[in-house]
Amino acid sequence: MRDARGRFITFEGIDGAGKSTQIARLDDALRARGREVLRTREPGGTCLGEKLRALLLDVEMHVDTEAMLMFAARREHLAAVIEPALAAGVWVLSDRFTDATYAYQVGGHGLAAARCDALEAWVHPGFAPDLTLLFDLPPALAAARVAASGADPDRFERERRDFFERARAAYLERARREPERFRVLDATQPPEVIAAAIEAAIAEKAWL
Ligand SMILES: Nc1ncnc2c1ncn2[C@@H]1O[C@H](COP(=O)(O)OP(=O)(O)OP(=O)(O)O)[C@@H](O)[C@H]1O
Ligand SMILES: [Mg+2]
Repeated sequence: MRDARGRFITFEGIDGAGKSTQIARLDDALRARGREVLRTREPGGTCLGEKLRALLLDVEMHVDTEAMLMFAARREHLAAVIEPALAAGVWVLSDRFTDATYAYQVGGHGLAAARCDALEAWVHPGFAPDLTLLFDLPPALAAARVAASGADPDRFERERRDFFERARAAYLERARREPERFRVLDATQPPEVIAAAIEAAIAEKAWL
């Protein structure tokens, strides 16, 4: 009998890595195969979460505050959106999740890892994505893409290059520690090549 629970797939990587581009493609590909799909994002995903997102992306704050607001938004997101959807058999595609807090707040802003561990253990003990797609590329290339897109940069996108170097390193370290959950993608490749690698990663799991 088919497993009735949905799958939770997260998209991670620094700003401009290509997450939004590929989440849309995978959404279409899964729907074409008859799956019910929910696309969401962090910070955000709920009414309260989107309000917290607006603050997080705009207002300067202590890194502890930043981490607590991220996890507050995540608590809502899990309770109101992610958990009910997975229980109903829906595949949830999330543009960022807890790995991003390790990359940006711990790696980028110097939050003590133990604090992030404690918040994670509070908010989602024993729960992790079924698959995490990490879009890896040099920060200079990602920054050039963001600049070319012409959108006004948010508080994180205005960070210096070394912030993104640290965030990238933190992401890669997490992928190294959990190779079963992560798939590291070479995000310098053309979109079609990355989309094929994502479909292959899902085919390997034999979920469909
Ligand atoms: N594989 C690719 N090769 C070249 N350009 C790409 C590729 N994927 C996306 N882009 C372009 O790079 C820019 C950033 O892509 P996208 O918005 O998907 O990244 P993102 O990871 O969602 O960024 P953010 O974290 O800022 O939301 C867009 O203008 C997009 O069209
Ligand atoms: Mg995006």
